[in-house]
Amino acid sequence: MKIQQRKNFIEEKFIDIHKKSSTVWVQAPGRVDLMGSHTDYNLGYVLTQAIDRNTWIAARPRNDGRVRIASLDVDGIAEFDLESIIYNEKIPWSNYVRGVADVYQKEGYELNGFDGLVHSTIPFGSGLSSSAALEVATAVLLESLADLEIAPVKRAILCQRAENEFVGMNCGILDQYSSAMGEEGSVLLLDCRSITSEIKPIAPGVQVMICDTRAERALTGSEYPERRAQCEEGARILRKFYPEIKSLRDATLEKVQTHRDDLDPVVYKRCHFIVEENQRVLDIADALASGEHHKAGRLAVESFRGARDLYEIVSDEMIAMHAAIMSAPGAYGARGAGAGFGGCLVAFVESDSIEAFAEHVQKEYVSSTGIEPEIYPVQAAKGAGVLPFN
Ligand code: GLA
Repeated sequence: MKIQQRKNFIEEKFIDIHKKSSTVWVQAPGRVDLMGSHTDYNLGYVLTQAIDRNTWIAARPRNDGRVRIASLDVDGIAEFDLESIIYNEKIPWSNYVRGVADVYQKEGYELNGFDGLVHSTIPFGSGLSSSAALEVATAVLLESLADLEIAPVKRAILCQRAENEFVGMNCGILDQYSSAMGEEGSVLLLDCRSITSEIKPIAPGVQVMICDTRAERALTGSEYPERRAQCEEGARILRKFYPEIKSLRDATLEKVQTHRDDLDPVVYKRCHFIVEENQRVLDIADALASGEHHKAGRLAVESFRGARDLYEIVSDEMIAMHAAIMSAPGAYGARGAGAGFGGCLVAFVESDSIEAFAEHVQKEYVSSTGIEPEIYPVQAAKGAGVLPFN
């Protein structure tokens, strides 16, 4: 959908729902991690980019301290008072909005109420950070309505806090940082300890493609915190031998292997994966910058295998998708995006072969799973901000 068309579509619905026209528009993009699965909460590195799929919120301020917000993608109109924000089980997506408002107020910022309408082009639950985009868009909106000047990196940290403390998901900084700090046309090498990033070039000739398995994620909710706890346990044990190991980011494969018998076998596998994955982030950043696309592809395949065998976050559909990708023309390599357990793979594809690649992957994946996937290229997009409408 073209920008103007999208705007008109949303505005029409906004008037239907709120009986007045909107006055402020904001956007926040989704993200794809090119390398670095679960390295963020181990305070390591991630190679990430914001993508040209995003969440918009159209809004109009209110003067009674209330928020009334609907979504064009999910049912329900959420209403709450800024003075008493509580978790809402009936309209789960609204907790991202509530959580951000709550954290901003706890930080001492005075906020204004608003009527809002959300529209997103980021598929939900597919590992492209639709929730972080909603959080970061909400943050930009609240700041704009209250005339606050907040640095994007602080915005990312506050949104992560909303997710950790209000929503109750103990994620790292990756998603919110990427959505807040994305750079058009560039990838970011993010250091999750210092929460800073470096812009990295990608040599021409390679296209990043999203290959969405469209398979339902069979997550119970415990897998992610369980992985995180296992990593923390590994770091705690290794620290007894090497006091400088504050998190797995500080460990090396040699140290992990030397202490294999001191670690629970599952914890050992998790640590093994994280230290290798962290190194792969640095290696792929160099490979992509210097045009070594085959090497980048091999690193992606290693990441996928590690995620499957050591970190155990790969579903059957992801395996089927990986096979379809690796037999396709122009494929350098691919790996899982986001938390895993379903969702999207990110593939590195020869720029001239995009159509042939997509056609092949589509056919192969349907024939092995019976599920219609979605295959599309993404471009690195700018981080969140106010849209220049009205
Ligand atoms: C989810 C989390 C992120 C990160 C990734 C895995 O997207 O929200 O913080 O841990 O999984 O890398």
